[in-house]
Order: sequence, then C-alpha cells, then structure tokens
Amino acid sequence: MAKRYAVILAAGKGTRMKSKLYKVLHPVLGRPMVQHVIDQLKPVHPDKMVTIVGHGADEVAEYIGEDSETVLQEEQLGTGHAVLQAEDLLKNEEGTTIVVCGDTPLITHETYRALFDHHEEQGAKATILTAKAPDPKGYGRVIRDEQNQVKRIVEHKDASGSELGVDEINTGTYCFDNKALFEALQHVSNDNVQGEYYLPDVIEILQNRDEKVSAFQTADFEETLGINDRVALAQAEKSLKKRINEQHMRNGVTLIDPDNTYISPEVVIEPDVLIHPGSVIKGQTTIKADAEIGPYSDIEDCVVGEGTTVRQSVAKDSQIGDRVQIGPYSHIRPEAKIGNEAKVGNFVEVKKTSLGENSKVSHLSYIGDADVGRNVNIGCGTITVNYDGKNKYLTTIEDDSFIGCNSNLVAPVTVGKGSYVAAGSTITKDVPEDALSIARSRQANKEGYASRIRNQKKD
Ligand code: UD1
Ligand code: CA
Repeated sequence: MAKRYAVILAAGKGTRMKSKLYKVLHPVLGRPMVQHVIDQLKPVHPDKMVTIVGHGADEVAEYIGEDSETVLQEEQLGTGHAVLQAEDLLKNEEGTTIVVCGDTPLITHETYRALFDHHEEQGAKATILTAKAPDPKGYGRVIRDEQNQVKRIVEHKDASGSELGVDEINTGTYCFDNKALFEALQHVSNDNVQGEYYLPDVIEILQNRDEKVSAFQTADFEETLGINDRVALAQAEKSLKKRINEQHMRNGVTLIDPDNTYISPEVVIEPDVLIHPGSVIKGQTTIKADAEIGPYSDIEDCVVGEGTTVRQSVAKDSQIGDRVQIGPYSHIRPEAKIGNEAKVGNFVEVKKTSLGENSKVSHLSYIGDADVGRNVNIGCGTITVNYDGKNKYLTTIEDDSFIGCNSNLVAPVTVGKGSYVAAGSTITKDVPEDALSIARSRQANKEGYASRIRNQKKD
C-alpha cells in the first residue's frame, strides 16, 4: 500500500469565534476540536502527521504533544500557504497526503479511510471530499463541467451569482498525490477577494494540466460541518452528542433523556448503566455495569464501580468502588478512593482520602487528606482539620471506629481501631485502640435557674 501522510491546518485565528481561546482549542463535548481531528486520523495510521500551527502556536502544540509533529506558519496567508509550511517535512515523500482542517471535528475515521481508498483506487492526483449542504453559505462551492467532472472550487466570497446557487460544497478535506501537491502549490497565487493563497486552487491547477481530479461525495453533510462561529460550535456539540449517546444506547446503556446527557468521546460505559438527565461525564472515565448516574451528576476522570449510585454530585479524578452510594450533593475531589459498599452522603466533601470498605460519611462533613479504614462511621458534621495555613496533614481513622457528630480531628492525628470519639470533641491527640475519647467541656446543669431568669424579666 502507498504511504499515507496527514496535514492538519490549525494556524488560523478563528476571528469569527470572537474569543480569546484559539479556535481549534474550543472544546466539543469537553475535547478540543483539533484533538477530535487527530483522534479520527489515528486509526488510518498515517506514516507521518503534521499540524500547522500559528495563532496560539505554543498552546496548540503543547496540547497536541506527541500525537503529531507541528510546524509554525508565522503569518496566516491562507490554507495553501499553510500546507506549504510542511514542505520540508513532506515534499520528497511518495504517497498520498490527506489535508484536513482543524475546525471540522465531526468527520469520522471511516470517512477518512473511504476517501483515501477512493483516491487510491481512482489513481487520482487530487480527490476532494464534498457534500451537499442544505445551506451552503460560507463554504467553497464545487464547480463541475458538463461531463460532471470537477473543474475547480470557488470560495463563497469569490463566487458569481450562479456559482452561489451550487449546493455541493468543499468540506476542506482532500487527498493528494504528495509530490503533485507540493509542486502545484508553487503555482497558487493570492489573486482573489481575500488576498489569500487558497489550497483549493490546487484543484484547478492540476485540472488544467489534465491530471486526474476526483470528488468523493459523502451523504452525511452534518459530519463535515466546519466550525467558524459559536452557532456552528453548538451544532457540532449537538451532533456529536447524538452520535455518542446513540452508540452507548446501542451498547446497552439506558439514557433517560439523551438530549440532556453529555458524554465525551473517550468515556467507557458498561451495559445496564442507567443515566438520568442533566449528567455530564468527561475525560478518562469508566462507568461499570449497573451503576446509576444522576440526575445532574458531573463526573470527570473517574472510575465508578459496579452497581454504584452517583446522584446529583460532582466527582473528579477519583476511584469509586462497587455498590457505593454517592450523594445527593456530594463533592468527591481529586485523589479520593472510595471502597466498596461505602457511602458518601449529603453535603459531604471528600478530598485526597481513602475511605475503606463499608465506611460511611453520611452528612455535612469535610474529610480531606485522610486514611479511613473499613466499617468506620463518621457522624454528621465531622471535620478533618488538615491545614494550618501552610501545610496539609494526614488524619488516620482505623477500622471499626465511630466518630461522633460534630467532631474536629486536628491533624496529624490517629484514631485507633475500634475506638469511639464522643460527639462534639476536638481531638488533638491520638486516640488509642478501643478507647472512648471525649474532648469537650463538661456540661453543668443549674437546677431551677431558668424560672429565676424568666421571673427577673417580668419585673
Ligand atoms: C475553507 C475552504 C473552503 C471550505 C471550508 C470548509 C479555503 C480557501 N477554503 O474555508 O473551500 O468550504 O474550509 O470548512 O481553503 N488555516 C491555517 N492557516 C491559514 C488559514 C487557515 O492554518 O493561513 C486553517 C484554519 O485554522 C482552519 C482551516 O485552515 O482550521 C480552514 O480555514 P478557515 O479560515 O476556517 O477556512 P474557511 O473560510 O472555512
Ligand atoms: Ca472553516
């Protein structure tokens, strides 16, 4: 098979986004659009991937990391000029080069592969991925001759009245014979309304030389959506959400309201999970079988165990075991590890804490920097006092202990195995195993005092 290369154009500012954030870093379902493009190109296994960066080059290059080589386009003089920046890396290679815009995040690897295959089967020098657009405004139009052969592409801003009527658009994705591409690019001029070097002009240049130019029309315009403004961004979000949610439902996941459930592409969900409306599940998250999520839970980079419930809660960067109950209104902050059958209830915040199997923090507590054993019961309103304004300290609560309501555990401190802490205690010293610790002032009852006060008031 011929070698395959990929060039991703991601140097533009994205003026129409009206944003501080560079266009290709705008997320669609929690993942920057350029990352979607790279993710979908990877399964095609290009021998080399080059991303052209310009506006926000450092941020974009840093985000892309190892996934692709990057080349700087110092001035954004147009898409043709952008591809030329990859010349040093690619021009001597034999094979097929796919060029993709960084702002078309919905094109699937199946479509990329079909385009490559079509191009190579046809023996073409260039193949354009086209689509019929219900509203072609803003896109380059594909102009064909009487024999239905592609002649050229005309940009919306350069198009004549009759050309504007054409509804077949250039999706901005093409396959080229690599050497023919870099040769033809030498001849592209900037003689057009925008004064830019247009990549699509390569088509006309090759056509005029009687080289074979082909078009591959995809039936799915939605997939080829180019994001130039926030209206299109919202359309992309909607369309990708539908695609991902349908996949999960087909795999056996119940979504009560798929229009109101946001799952990013890299999330893994096992069958028989039930997801209620308003839930957002992002990042490297795995939800195991029979779990129940939401309504309105926000989960990022977590493992949620089998049969676990996460109701109206926020969880990030944490491991939650099997048959655990989280929420309503819990906040599971990074580096929490919640054991099987544990419970984290209403208005409880847990951070950098390991909570052992079958341990419970049911109401209104803050447990941070703590190592909590198994079968521990932490009463309502308990606080691990972990921070002195400078450093954080560890609280250890050993197996089978019972922390009474409204206790302060001033770290570093250890509550020994099987011990009791009386309600309202402020524990500053270690509690030995099996002890009862009371650390509060004694109660004094003054008999008959209340009526004396009441009678004084009457005078
Ligand atoms: C482009 C196509 C148009 C097509 C549409 C599909 C050209 C001239 N026009 O138009 O035919 O219908 O995409 O979505 O190619 N970029 C650079 N450097 C530059 C200019 C652009 O890297 O100097 C990048 C942008 O970051 C973007 C992509 O190229 O990711 C496309 O640029 P954009 O300005 O969005 O082109 P469109 O006007 O949408
Ligand atoms: Ca665009």
